[in-house]
Amino acid sequence: MSTLTEHQAIKDAAALLRAGKLCAFPTETVYGLGADATNADAVLSIYETKGRPRFNPLIIHCADLAMAESLAEFSPLARRLAALWPGPLSIVLPQKPGNGLADVATAGLATVALRIPDHPLALALLRETGRPLAAPSANPSGKLSPTTAEQVRRGFAGAVPVLDGGPCQAGVESTIVAVDGDRVVQLRSGAMPRADIEAALGVKVDIAAENAAIAAPGMLLSHYAPEAQIRLDAAPRPGEAFLAFGPAPDFSGPMRNLSPSGDLREAARHLFSMLHELDATGAGAIAVAPIPDTGLGEAINDRLTRAAAPRG
Ligand code: TXA
Ligand code: MG
Repeated sequence: MSTLTEHQAIKDAAALLRAGKLCAFPTETVYGLGADATNADAVLSIYETKGRPRFNPLIIHCADLAMAESLAEFSPLARRLAALWPGPLSIVLPQKPGNGLADVATAGLATVALRIPDHPLALALLRETGRPLAAPSANPSGKLSPTTAEQVRRGFAGAVPVLDGGPCQAGVESTIVAVDGDRVVQLRSGAMPRADIEAALGVKVDIAAENAAIAAPGMLLSHYAPEAQIRLDAAPRPGEAFLAFGPAPDFSGPMRNLSPSGDLREAARHLFSMLHELDATGAGAIAVAPIPDTGLGEAINDRLTRAAAPRG
């Protein structure tokens, strides 16, 4: 896209959003399905379009720290976390009363999950719109998150306009943390590894128990479900598809390699796209090679475990 048409595309997308319409946009993690977070009707159409349960609150994307601070109360510890913005980190904070956010955007909770995305198009769109944007991953509820504009279009059968920014860099969703007094609790593993947050802040990041009082409601749902069965830590059998990591075995069926060199960043970036591609082969099952559970591997294995979970 040339700079001129890109500028026009951003203006058009912002005009849609300001008029209460939906528009999908790229972030460094995955594509988001955006709506003006201060417009209840606009936010409701996110839930309708995705088929998402109303009790599952949305992440609110901000253009800058001033916008974020107008929406939530930042403790000193929260401020130190916010120094990691822009980036793939969503922070759950107490809402400021009268902040203008639609109640449906936060599913009626007293808290709100905020982030400033690290993507030039997302930031330009947020500035041009001048409003906080509610944006879940731009996929029908329960399906794989999209990392390209084409996947968004296919997911919603062309019904949603998409600002195209090419493939997403990180490939898995943001890490979600809550601040609980002097504790930082991770509610969802994601594109910012826990160890990176710990190193930057010099504090330990606890992992929320599945049934903790503070939790990300969306984490209770079956998620990331491809059509194919997923078999983890597996070698491929005849008739299956195979998602490799590191040196690939001899296999004649459909195969993708998350990272031939065993690089977790590369693997995260390719995860959803390769699952999409292998799923599209119509194979009944996808065997997935073991992936180390360190660094970004924590988020990769989390998403794969959910994709492999039995559907209810
Ligand atoms: O990378 C990302 O985070 C992407 C891009 C588009 O920014 N967005 C994303 O949104 O993954 P979504 O809707 O797929 O996931 C949002 C998660 C859900 O698990 C939800 O329950 C949790 O955030 N969440 C939102 N607000 C919360 C709150 N106030 N307290 C706890 N969890 C919250
Ligand atoms: Mg999602």
